Amino acid sequence: MDATLLVLNGPNLNLLGVREPDTYGSVTLDRIETDLADAFPDTTFSFRQKNGEGALIDDLHTAHERTLDGVVFNPGGYTHTSVALRDAVAAIDPPVVEVHLSNVHAREDFRRTSRIAPVCEGQISGLGPAGYHLATRYLLDEA
Ligand code: DQA
Repeated sequence: MDATLLVLNGPNLNLLGVREPDTYGSVTLDRIETDLADAFPDTTFSFRQKNGEGALIDDLHTAHERTLDGVVFNPGGYTHTSVALRDAVAAIDPPVVEVHLSNVHAREDFRRTSRIAPVCEGQISGLGPAGYHLATRYLLDEA
C-alpha cells in the first residue's frame, strides 16, 4: 500500500557513524535512510533531522497538516527532558513510534525515562537501525 511516513531524528543524530560508535554503531544516518527507502520502495518517506526542539515540533506539526500516515521518531536526548515535544506528539493525529538505536534501559538512569513514549504507539530501543525498519513495518500495517 502506498503510504507517506515522516522519519524524524533529533539532536546529534546527524553525527551517527562518528559519534560514540561503541554505543551507536558505525552506520551513518544517511545510510539508515537509504536502506529504509530501499526496503520499502512503495512508501514515500520524508527524512528530517533537526538539532533544535522547536524545529522538531514544526516538523511534527507539518506531518499533521499533511495528514501523513505515521512518524518514526528518534528524539535523541530530548526523549528524557522535553515536555514540549511530548505535547506536540500528543497534539497530532498521525501515529508516532519512538525509536532508539541504543538500549536506553541498559544505560544511565536518566535515559530510562521517556517523556514522549507514553503518548506514542510504542517504543523500540536497542535494536540499532533495525528499529527504524520495525517501526516502519508497524506504521504501514496500521495505515
Ligand atoms: C538515542 C538515545 C538517547 O538517550 C541519546 O540522547 C541519543 C540517542 C538512541 O538512539 O539511542 O541521542 O536516542
